[in-house]
Amino acid sequence: MLKSLALSILFCGAAALPAAAQMAGVPSTTSDVSGIISKGAADDAAQYKGLDTYNLLPNRSESKFVTIDPGAQADAMGAGVNILGYDPYWQDGKTGNYSDDTFAKIKAAGFSTVRLNLFIFGKDAAHLGVNGNIDPKWLKKLDWVVAEAERHDLNIILDEHDFEDCSEARPQDCATLLMVTWRQLAKRYMNEPNSVMFELLNEPHGNLNGEAWNKVLAQVVAVVRATNPTRNLIIGPTHWNSMDDLDQLKLPADDHIIVTFHYYKPMTFTHQGAVWAHEENLHDIHFGSPAELKTINDDFNTVATWANAHNRAIFLGEFGAYDKAPMDDRVKYDSAVARTAEAHSFPWAYWQFSSDFLLYDFSKQQFVAPILKALRPDAQP
Ligand code: BGC
Repeated sequence: MLKSLALSILFCGAAALPAAAQMAGVPSTTSDVSGIISKGAADDAAQYKGLDTYNLLPNRSESKFVTIDPGAQADAMGAGVNILGYDPYWQDGKTGNYSDDTFAKIKAAGFSTVRLNLFIFGKDAAHLGVNGNIDPKWLKKLDWVVAEAERHDLNIILDEHDFEDCSEARPQDCATLLMVTWRQLAKRYMNEPNSVMFELLNEPHGNLNGEAWNKVLAQVVAVVRATNPTRNLIIGPTHWNSMDDLDQLKLPADDHIIVTFHYYKPMTFTHQGAVWAHEENLHDIHFGSPAELKTINDDFNTVATWANAHNRAIFLGEFGAYDKAPMDDRVKYDSAVARTAEAHSFPWAYWQFSSDFLLYDFSKQQFVAPILKALRPDAQP
């Protein structure tokens, strides 16, 4: 039973698999797939041998990794931004919008961290071949992004963003897909400096709510730890990384985990006009009353209390207001959340650089000035 759904997920991917993966020599027989899946479900890192066929980044035969305490790492993360998730860059044969200059601009604007949203095995991405190997061409593209972040002295979070597919699958099938994926990513980047962090899965929800996510995350942590014993990992609670679920999050006894949450409250303001949030009929909702500002502060106090009680560093991995909200209010909101996070010593990452909730407009090759000003008041766009 377990196997059949996992297979169908992989086959879904295979059906949409671009010619790229086929050209890369991805076999497509059922026996290849069933071998990988049953090994994956066995949760034994040793059995993944044979998936590790790809080279590490160039010039990385010696490790650049140095262990860093999660608190110190969180302090160094500072201001961040989500990047590249929905850019055509990931499509085979496309170069997309981001260039070396983009990373230079992100750094110059005062950001220290990028959170890279990665779609790998979901039905719309399908970069995981039916043999369980991630497409080598796609990995080379990922290498470029990691190298760019390092070149511009930016921390980079590899954020596995197949959250919809994983949350709709059965939890053990999601675990299998994450283990197969992280086994390869963790090995590939094991020698990178500690500025490279791994976020196991964005916004678990649906079938992953409750105990299911705790079980899945423990399995995935074990796989990553086989190659990266002390790299800081980022893990968040259920219901789309809601702070309200922090008390249900059970982490393994592992000192190198930073806990993340996402903040979009009140949804009626931040997601007004957003079809995917079923708020398409809302418009002209304003923000900025003293009570609303106080709520953000109270909420972040609650998160800080949890963090102190559990001795975990915190990372606010997403916040922002959709482009359809009135600009003046978006500015007030983004500024209030960023400043409140800073007052609580939470590093943060704005959602998102391009695509929507726009911080940077590639069509004009310039920052959306009011949003940049709200996030980085001292930046010169
Ligand atoms: C999702 C996006 C969505 C954003 C805000 C992210 O985690 O990946 O699709 O636009 O949250 O709702």
